[in-house]
Amino acid sequence: MNSEAMERAREAEAQLTDDERFSLLISVMGTNAVLTDKDPRIPDGVPMSAGYTPGIPRLGIPGLLMTDASLGVTNPGYREGDTATALPASIALGASFNPVLARRSGQLIGREARSRGLNVLLAGGLNLHRDPRNGRNFEYLSEDPWLTGVLGAESVEGIQGEQVISTVKHFSLNCNETNRHWLDAVIDPAAHRESDLLAFEIAIERARPGSVMTGYNKINGTYAGGNEGLLQGILKGAWGFPGWVMSDWGATPSWDFALQGQDQESGVQIDVMMWGQESFTAPLRAAFESGEFPKQRLSEMVQRILYAIFDVGIDDWEGTPDVDPAAHAAVALETARQGIVLLKNDGVLPLEVPSTAVGRFKIAVIGGHAQLGVPAGCGSSAVTPPGGYAEIHSIGGPGIMGSMRNLYLLPSSPLAELQKLLPDAEIEYDPGMNPGEAVLLARRSDVAIVFGIRVEGEGYDNADLSLPWGQDTVIDAVAGANSNTVVVLETGNPVAMPWLPKVSAVLAAWYPGQCGGQAIAEILAGVTNPSGKLPLTFPKDLDQTPRPVLPGLGTPWGTPTTVTYNEGSDVGYRWFAKAGKKPLFPFGHGLSYTRFGYGNLTVQDRGGVRAEVTVTNEGPRPGADVPQLYLLEDPAGPRMRLLGFERVDLEPGESRTVELTVDPRLLACYSTGRGQWHIAAGNYRLALGHSAGDCSLEADVYLAESWFGR
Ligand code: BGC
Repeated sequence: MNSEAMERAREAEAQLTDDERFSLLISVMGTNAVLTDKDPRIPDGVPMSAGYTPGIPRLGIPGLLMTDASLGVTNPGYREGDTATALPASIALGASFNPVLARRSGQLIGREARSRGLNVLLAGGLNLHRDPRNGRNFEYLSEDPWLTGVLGAESVEGIQGEQVISTVKHFSLNCNETNRHWLDAVIDPAAHRESDLLAFEIAIERARPGSVMTGYNKINGTYAGGNEGLLQGILKGAWGFPGWVMSDWGATPSWDFALQGQDQESGVQIDVMMWGQESFTAPLRAAFESGEFPKQRLSEMVQRILYAIFDVGIDDWEGTPDVDPAAHAAVALETARQGIVLLKNDGVLPLEVPSTAVGRFKIAVIGGHAQLGVPAGCGSSAVTPPGGYAEIHSIGGPGIMGSMRNLYLLPSSPLAELQKLLPDAEIEYDPGMNPGEAVLLARRSDVAIVFGIRVEGEGYDNADLSLPWGQDTVIDAVAGANSNTVVVLETGNPVAMPWLPKVSAVLAAWYPGQCGGQAIAEILAGVTNPSGKLPLTFPKDLDQTPRPVLPGLGTPWGTPTTVTYNEGSDVGYRWFAKAGKKPLFPFGHGLSYTRFGYGNLTVQDRGGVRAEVTVTNEGPRPGADVPQLYLLEDPAGPRMRLLGFERVDLEPGESRTVELTVDPRLLACYSTGRGQWHIAAGNYRLALGHSAGDCSLEADVYLAESWFGR
């Protein structure tokens, strides 16, 4: 807590009129394609954005200009012609396992926002990947609380270092999109603390974001924004969060959320569309006049907003920062390079044009609009890249998000980039529209590269794990026609791979951002050695997951839906370990063009568990590896947890000793009865591995009993 900022917030709040106090409690959305009427509360000359809250000029308090920013500064029609660096999806950043890149991405977004006068970023999606159908998984980092919390914190640090407020969202358990406004996410409270809430806890304590955004959903029967236990009890109570809680856009059906811990109603026009009213304007004012909404709480809400303003220093901007588009594009490129995961390779990659076949070595590039660019996810996070999209195909769908559901293609063509890198090859393109036609080209090529894409985004869950538009059939047919078939997936989630045994290599490139085509081509051609690791488990099929059938899927928009997260804290790889199931590809998996070996694992408890391991590049090329430390067993039995990781770059033959310090909450269980974390006395079995499915070195450590935290 920054006591100086708190003192200033108290002093400033004391000088406000009640009208001024109330003016800070809402944000109003700017005009765009969905909301065409300009709200008169936004003064002329203020750049349009996702949310506007007026300032108090007489006290030097700036207005809040909020913009979506998970993957870059967005502009869904608010500011004509305004484009920004379009980063790879957060799931790709998660796959980099690289905190340094997370911080750089945050800095980049913060700087681009500030250069436009935007001072609050609705960035920081920290929900865990609980379900491979979730349409917004691409906006989230991983299925693991430690990986998510560590990377999320770095991103917030990067943003707030530019004196721009960062938000973490969607608090909490907004893990499916189906009927999200009517979704009740049911979970055991202790398991919640050990999973999704732990990711938020880690990010918040490390990086002190100014704001937390609630989810649309209910948690155990109560809406997130009106959930006193979650907001007052855990976030503000146990964790001592001093900033403010804003709702998601259209997630405040009632004024009394103010009594349960929500401090600001966001995007009030969406509340009017959803619930027929704004809540924190006239209804909250009426509750204030009648005494139901106490003055003390009003003051606290305002102080929290002012605290974040002063703590981050958005009232203290000097000048407009320079933005170097080339340097920012380089961050987008590097994130794509490090985030792309090589899932399978029987030796066909990296592509090599034999010197004897120059001019005759034929490569077929098939499908995925690879001649134009790379896809991006859709919804509020979509970023218009410099120069605009290569193309936008309208997809549509039911509900208020239908108009934002598009296939966005960012102009970074994998085909063109491959042609640049392999000038000695003859590269031809087939659209992959029809298996029969694709096979014709595949047959007369030495290698066939097939792209599999899927439109995923906000407001919709995927019905299943298949690729749309018959692409699985095309891949299968091409693999039947050419024994050197490489599949490049550009999706926001795992997909089923019925054709896997028939293909030679598979890359998961996610939504790789504005330089994605280049990064894909570099990895195919071996200019870049792949180093991404899966930030979520790829199941063989939905039957392997905790919910083969997703409740509510297929019901009309608006149907009350209950999803019971019965896997509790055993999300992703933890679930697979517990159930003894072998996935298609495990969490943490990712191949390289070199090989890494591990040795000399030691684990010690010296006032905290620390592990050391030596990592060696045993192969022929420089490369990066991510050794991963897991808990396999605690005194009560098998219990898998990622305890630590570190990305290391090594030259051929080079070794490095990596030291990993374990956060005790990862070894503990949460006791709701005592309101504390508990480490039981006994033996803990740890393992070091290349992935959750490949832990080669094991070591035991004895821990004494302890209770700690809140
Ligand atoms: C999304 C949020 C976003 C907000 C403002 C909502 O639909 O769920 O993540 O920040 O819109 O655009």
